[in-house]
Amino acid sequence: MARDSRPTFFIWTVGCQMNVGDSRRLAESLEARGYRASDRLDSADLLVLNTCVVRQSAEERVLGRLSSLKSFKERRPEALLAVMGCLVGIEPEASDLATRFPYVDHWLPPSAYEALLARLPELPMSSEAAVGPSPVSRYVTIMRGCNNFCSYCIVPYRRGLEHSRPPEEVLEECAELAALGAREITLLGQNVDSYGQDLPGRPTLAELLHRVHEIPGLLRLRFLTNHPKDMSPDLIEAVASLPRVCEHIELPLQSGSDEILRRMNRHYTAEQYLRLVERVRRSIPGVALATDIIVGFPGETRAQFEETYAVLETVGFSAIHVACYSPRQGTAAARLPDDVPAEEKEARRAMVEELLERQSAEANAALLGQSLEVLFEEEVRGKWRGRTRGNALVFCAAEGPLAGRLIDVRITWAGPWSMQGEPAR
Ligand code: SAH
Ligand code: SF4
Ligand code: F3S
Repeated sequence: MARDSRPTFFIWTVGCQMNVGDSRRLAESLEARGYRASDRLDSADLLVLNTCVVRQSAEERVLGRLSSLKSFKERRPEALLAVMGCLVGIEPEASDLATRFPYVDHWLPPSAYEALLARLPELPMSSEAAVGPSPVSRYVTIMRGCNNFCSYCIVPYRRGLEHSRPPEEVLEECAELAALGAREITLLGQNVDSYGQDLPGRPTLAELLHRVHEIPGLLRLRFLTNHPKDMSPDLIEAVASLPRVCEHIELPLQSGSDEILRRMNRHYTAEQYLRLVERVRRSIPGVALATDIIVGFPGETRAQFEETYAVLETVGFSAIHVACYSPRQGTAAARLPDDVPAEEKEARRAMVEELLERQSAEANAALLGQSLEVLFEEEVRGKWRGRTRGNALVFCAAEGPLAGRLIDVRITWAGPWSMQGEPAR
């Protein structure tokens, strides 16, 4: 066979599932146009950075990477460099990025990868264009942007206000992915509870779930992220009644102190959150609840942090994404003094991590000997890796191929971050 002469691309991705989903779709579009994925950044003909700026540390990592690419462009001026995602934001022209990094060829707002495709040179149609196997689990964005303006958060400034994608468009993409081999789809939005509010006829997420549920080939559905102020009884009912929708809900608490929640502009109290958790648990037995926490928000006292800790102890989450507060320029909270010392933030973060480790170890140990339904995704170092309906990681040393298969697994080993098992039967 002739040497593969297709131009190559490399996509560097940081940030949330939205970016992961966008990068994956961009990669597929590039492959369909005759590009080939490269596993090396420095030899690629097209380099794309998909960026995140949710915290200062993320932004610094992105800027560091961007600065280091100056010499790459000097060595290989013919290679194309594109930057997309939340560093760029919805108004790239209004930023000084192009002046600071003049060697970047294309600046693309979050999710706007079509604009890049339109600007790429036409390639001769190639019979070599072969897209790799589709992953079992895929992300589909159902809405972009956010209207909530939590006082710490830069996302609405970088992704703009909420725009829902019409249900037909979402259904079409899900059906396409299912036809390519996807078995699980996670519907994404910053606040999926307000899906459809900006569309004619105001379709809801619950209605959308009912429709996506009917797509042949799909075995599992998830969605994220919910907002505790907006989660509707209809949605809870849809999760309870639709067998393919997993009992797994991402419900960010952020803080368990009413005063901090008020200053975060979250529009609920700790008690309202706990009542919602009770309702969810009553309607969806065995539901796995995951959450996000920020420690060290401006003015957060030790006692206020302890209120958060108490809520975490009460609920028993299956996952907690905990972050130290990081001021983001342009947000309301950035005007407040960032007065919790870094070591104190770190100590609070570590306490949450330790609590989660202890709670997860206990919850997983209780599953020893039980059979759980696992959807397997890929083989890693001789073991098949999959997830339970509650999104817990399970490894299984069975004979393959198991990718894309739903199998009952008897749990034989349980640690805090993963479990191992063998096919039950
Ligand atoms: N829409 C989702 C995700 C938002 S960003 C939500 O409402 O939860 C993901 C997480 O990053 C947030 O949940 C929050 O915990 C964290 N985060 C956002 N801004 C932050 C900041 N300035 N400092 C620290 N963590 C932050
Ligand atoms: Fe940010 Fe709040 Fe919107 Fe989540 S809901 S993206 S935390 S503003
Ligand atoms: Fe980061 Fe933007 Fe997602 S800031 S967390 S990539 S919405």
